[in-house]
Amino acid sequence: MQTTQTLWKEEYAGGSEQVERILIDGYARDILDIQRRIAQASNKSPDRTLHAKVIAGVMNARLSVSPDLPADLATGYFQPAASFTATIRFSNASPLHMPDTKADMRGAAIRVHIAEHEFHDFLMTNYPVSHARDAWQFMEVAKIATGSKRLMLIRFVLKFGLGETIRIIKNVRSGSRAIESIASEQFWSRAPLLWGAAGPVRYTLMPMATRNGRTPNITDPDDLANELGRRAASGDIRYTLAVQRYVNPEKTPIEDGSVEWRESDSPFIGVATVTIPAQDLGSAKALADRQKVDGMAFNPWNCPETFRPLGGLNRARKAVYGASAKGWLGRPAEGSGQNGRSR
Ligand code: HEM
Repeated sequence: MQTTQTLWKEEYAGGSEQVERILIDGYARDILDIQRRIAQASNKSPDRTLHAKVIAGVMNARLSVSPDLPADLATGYFQPAASFTATIRFSNASPLHMPDTKADMRGAAIRVHIAEHEFHDFLMTNYPVSHARDAWQFMEVAKIATGSKRLMLIRFVLKFGLGETIRIIKNVRSGSRAIESIASEQFWSRAPLLWGAAGPVRYTLMPMATRNGRTPNITDPDDLANELGRRAASGDIRYTLAVQRYVNPEKTPIEDGSVEWRESDSPFIGVATVTIPAQDLGSAKALADRQKVDGMAFNPWNCPETFRPLGGLNRARKAVYGASAKGWLGRPAEGSGQNGRSR
């Protein structure tokens, strides 16, 4: 009988790990070019190439693993009822510091502190699928979208063909929107990772707060940050971290980030609660923490070996995030994807 372990496989761009590595080295150089170009155009020092603006940064969150965690999902540090300090950075996805009320995608980066020098970074955005099927598409879109606006659509069509251009634009338009609160958004990993012996999973962060129809305050560029501050002042902000199991190559592909892993094919299984405790996010300590978090570089490859990221989008992210972070930090980032030394 075939098990989840034997059914799935990773496939390398260009047909081999060696060829893909050369392509990825090129993407790392491309991301630095984009970062420098944006810095020059805005006359500012280099910043994160994507997700530049922090909405909130907290260092006193908690990840509490479910006491009822299914036995096969208990792997490594992730054991029933275990609890860890977590650092969280919420961001706007744009490379530019735009007002929070602009249509954009939002990001959530959670660092779970496992031991003194060991941590696990979970990165998600508030749209379930990537506009890019693979790393090549991701980088070509990034290059075109951050370049000259002239004839942009034609350059998209020449690069991807009409059908793919339409799909990519539809995806970006649906994912980019104004939101009422970070506390009532759902975030998705969009790319899979290995979850020990349970095999590949994608993960999601589900809000416990519901949307209440608040109209964003367009006169406040930090509307989402301030809204979260008001919530934190009056109580905990909580989410459920859930995973979806791999089913088969058609329903839950490893290498195509544009395909949704549908709940009807693979239901979400709650594995932990993430809590931002009630606090004054405007206090001197909270503001200092927010600045520290904004200076931290996250990378999905900051992970224990048992949680190795999977698929080409993720394989590219190891070098690309490392290069981007080195560009804005001026030195290699802590961890830098070295935590989970699997390849
Ligand atoms: C498909 C799933 C993906 C998700 C869920 C995701 C999510 C995120 C998030 C949340 C951040 C902000 C991290 C922070 O707060 O510091 C980020 C940053 C970034 N992402 Fe992604 N991303 C994905 C794919 C990619 C891919 C495929 C690439 C390029 C190959 C990429 C390139 C970047 C870069 C360059 C940054 C800035 C990193 C830094 O300078 O520190 N992302 N991403």
